[in-house]
Amino acid sequence: MSETIDFDKVHEMAGKVMHDVAGAVSLMMAYMGDQAGVFAAMDGEGPMTLEQLVGKTGMEPKYLREWLGSVSAAGYVDFDAENETFELPPEKALIFTREGQPACMQGFIQAVVAQFEMHEKAVDVFKTGKGRPWSDHSNCLFCGTDRFFRPGYAANLVSTWLPALDGVTDKLEAGAKVADIGCGYGSSTVLMAREYPNSTFVGIDFHEPSIIEARKQAQEAGLTNVSFEVATAQDFPGDGFDFACIFDALHDMGDPVGAARHIREAMKPDGTFMVVEPMAGDTMAENMHPMGQIFYGFSCMGCVPASLAQDVGLGLGAQAGQKRLAAVLNEAGFSHVRRATETPTNMVLEATV
Ligand SMILES: C[S@@+](CC[C@H](N)C(=O)[O-])C[C@H]1O[C@@H](n2cnc3c(N)ncnc32)[C@H](O)[C@@H]1O
Repeated sequence: MSETIDFDKVHEMAGKVMHDVAGAVSLMMAYMGDQAGVFAAMDGEGPMTLEQLVGKTGMEPKYLREWLGSVSAAGYVDFDAENETFELPPEKALIFTREGQPACMQGFIQAVVAQFEMHEKAVDVFKTGKGRPWSDHSNCLFCGTDRFFRPGYAANLVSTWLPALDGVTDKLEAGAKVADIGCGYGSSTVLMAREYPNSTFVGIDFHEPSIIEARKQAQEAGLTNVSFEVATAQDFPGDGFDFACIFDALHDMGDPVGAARHIREAMKPDGTFMVVEPMAGDTMAENMHPMGQIFYGFSCMGCVPASLAQDVGLGLGAQAGQKRLAAVLNEAGFSHVRRATETPTNMVLEATV
């Protein structure tokens, strides 16, 4: 069969790929600048010459020069060609270096770098259809995931998400028993425990290294109303919970129905289950935008392999959408599921019996 090639379309696609390659290189530069402390060294300094930055960081000027060239060309750093100076203005410092600020994107960047770091494994499971346990990722992914999600939780969880649920904050004020399942580094658990000292919180995750980090966080925060346990969502111990929550983890589970059923059984009959999931429409057609591009990609590399590595292996994916998630929750015995609130990146579902 002969084919006719439209070279305008070839050029157009090549331009797009060039743009994406530039972006990929810039993410690596941003990650290196973060890990080496260069952005931090530039924050608040105003315009700096290469020599001044070398003086402040003690780094090798030949590397720094190339790095500055790349991040300036990317627009991550402002370059003044006349004076040959480089500046990280506050708006860019918020994105690249101010840890814990809602605008800080270094965790997001780190999560991408972590995927490239272990690309052979990603290719292997993609080719073979095997599962890949969550624990089989680079350490950089676990802290990157926490760094990526934590600012959003800090900005929204206590101020908006919990108050959007029916009657939950009253229970938390009075003293409730709470489980945070698939808690990872426990940032969400620690935020809630700090806000509600009358309540007791347990964070549960089957990934022991994450639970060790979570315990450290709680200890550093000086909290006595929170503990962390290594257990699976389908059979963690304890019962009588007033409130259970799960942040960006239900779709990673092999058996989300079994997990949600166990959570329902561990809760009081009038308990509330909050499910935070990535924002997504119900059909693939609704997710054809940069967030869809990102989440389907992470899902292909991390979420679906993590699910396929577990019993049942449902592989919901990170763009399951509310309809599919509600079906999972209904099957687990939650008859009422509603979207309590949302952000551009997350939907917050409230499930009750
Ligand atoms: C994407 S991470 C999210 C972690 C954390 N909730 C956060 O928002 O930062 C998904 C988490 O789910 C945990 N997980 C996946 N399947 C699990 C299961 N069946 N039981 C317990 N934890 C599970 C993983 O270990 C991982 O920490």
